[in-house]
Parts: sequence; C-alpha cells; structure tokens
Amino acid sequence: MNQVVLITGAATGLGRATALKLAEQSYRLALVDFNEEAGLQTTEEVKNKGAEAIFIKADVSNEDDVKLYVKRTEETFGRIDYFHNNAGIMIPFRMIHEYSADEYDRLMNINVKGAFLGIKYVIEVMLKNGGGTIINTVSSNSYKPTAYNGIYSASKHALAGMTKSIGQDYQDVNVYAVGVAPNTMQTNIAANASTTFTPEIGAKIGATTGPNIAATAEEIADAVIFAMNNGKVLTGSIINCAGGQIYN
Ligand SMILES: NC(=O)c1ccc[n+]([C@@H]2O[C@H](COP(=O)([O-])OP(=O)(O)OC[C@H]3O[C@@H](n4cnc5c(N)ncnc54)[C@H](O)[C@@H]3O)[C@@H](O)[C@H]2O)c1
Repeated sequence: MNQVVLITGAATGLGRATALKLAEQSYRLALVDFNEEAGLQTTEEVKNKGAEAIFIKADVSNEDDVKLYVKRTEETFGRIDYFHNNAGIMIPFRMIHEYSADEYDRLMNINVKGAFLGIKYVIEVMLKNGGGTIINTVSSNSYKPTAYNGIYSASKHALAGMTKSIGQDYQDVNVYAVGVAPNTMQTNIAANASTTFTPEIGAKIGATTGPNIAATAEEIADAVIFAMNNGKVLTGSIINCAGGQIYN
C-alpha cells in the first residue's frame, strides 16, 4: 500500500506545494487547514494528479480538531507514515513591548501549541505502526530573529527545540523529526504582518535579514521531501534553507 502523509497548512503556500509534489509520487494524502475553500481546491488539484486524498477542516490550535484530523486520517488510511507539521502564521511587525497578550496567545497557540498537539497525537499512531517521520516547518527565525518579529521568532525557536528533543528521545522507536527552515519563501504569509509596515521598519528588517536568495514554495517542498526520505540520518536536525544568509 502507498505510504500516508498528513500535512497541516495544506491549503496554500508550502503545504500546498508539498502536497502537489507528493501527489505525483503516489502517496496517499490527508490535507488539513482551517481555510476550507482553498483546502478543498488543493485537494481537488491533488486528486486530479491521481492521488488518493482527503481534506479535513481543522484549526490546529484546537485540541478537539487535532484529535479529529488524526482520527480521520487513521480511519481512512490505517496509518500515518509522514507528518508535515506545517501550519503557521505571522502577526503584525512590532517591537516586543507593543504586542498585546492576545496577539501573543494567537501566534503561540497556532505556531507552538498547534505544532505540539499534532506531534502528540500523530506520534501515538506512529508508535502503533512501528515508526514514522515528522517534518516540522521551522524558519530562519529559528536561528536569528528578523527585526520586529520577536514573538514569531520565539515560536520558531520553540519548534526547533521540539524537533531536537524528538531526535534525542525517540531513537529507539523509529520515530524521527527533521526541521525545514525556509528563509525568504515566496508565499502570502507576511500579508498580515505587513499591516504595520513602514519604510523605517522595512529598512530594519532588511538590515537584520541581510542578502539572501528567495525560494519558491516548490523549491522548499523539495527540501521537505528530502527530509522525509532521510529521516533516520537527519533526525534532530534542521535543514537550513538560508539562501546564502549568514547567521553567525
Ligand atoms: N514564507 C516564508 O518566508 C516562511 C519562512 C519561514 C518559515 N515559514 C513557515 O512556513 C509555514 C507555511 O507557511 P507559508 O509561507 O506557506 O504561508 P501560507 O500562509 O501560504 O500557509 C500557511 C497555511 O497554514 C494555514 N493555517 C494557519 N493557521 C492555521 C490553523 N490555526 N489551523 C489550520 N491551518 C492554519 C493557512 O490557512 C495556510 O494555508 C509556516 O509555518 C511559516 O511560519 C514561512
């Protein structure tokens, strides 16, 4: 039977690009997103490439929704071989003291708690089936914060930490975790962050980012698939898709 990949944040951007590439390689796909319209559209495109696929509408920050997407994937396909733990958001660019507690909670609930809940419930299924590989979408902000992005950067440092812990703690049970860290990836995630954009903020972001080669979502999807195929040797590490930026 073809292997099963569960992808969160599959409606647009990197999750969508990974799903479309995997559809051409005959994987069975469970696609999760809270954007139902775009998620169903991606699922149609994946099916048009001949792949078996289901769409599950879920908010990754809601524990009942996470239990639901894991249960429905297991009920439909019987197992989960790979988990691309990818859903994430950015919030408007601000200095740390300017963020409200609500903004902090919203971002952390999706980028950290949501990623944790996915890991928690997917690993239970992987353990029943003899193992599996988790690909966490982390960030260049897991290495070095860009300006006016402190809470987002903290969230991506946290997810990089969880990736390393899985690599350390699950070696004997064939569960592997690899981080994939895009730098400048051409998607719409920054649209929400840019609502506070000014020339001054832009200059500081540019200075803290430094020169780097922008990647398409399709190019980063290739790194995700490389991580899937090499979980055993890469577990606990991050594939740094820096595009030439130097972090230290
Ligand atoms: N674009 C970049 O430059 C960049 C750089 C580094 C890391 N990343 C990370 O890449 C990942 C994918 O983002 P992208 O750039 O493809 O942007 P994107 O906005 O196109 O994709 C994110 C997807 O996650 C979904 N999502 C967000 N919150 C959700 C929730 N609570 N429940 C379910 N689905 C939810 C969105 O609907 C969307 O489909 C994110 O984790 C992001 O932090 C992006």
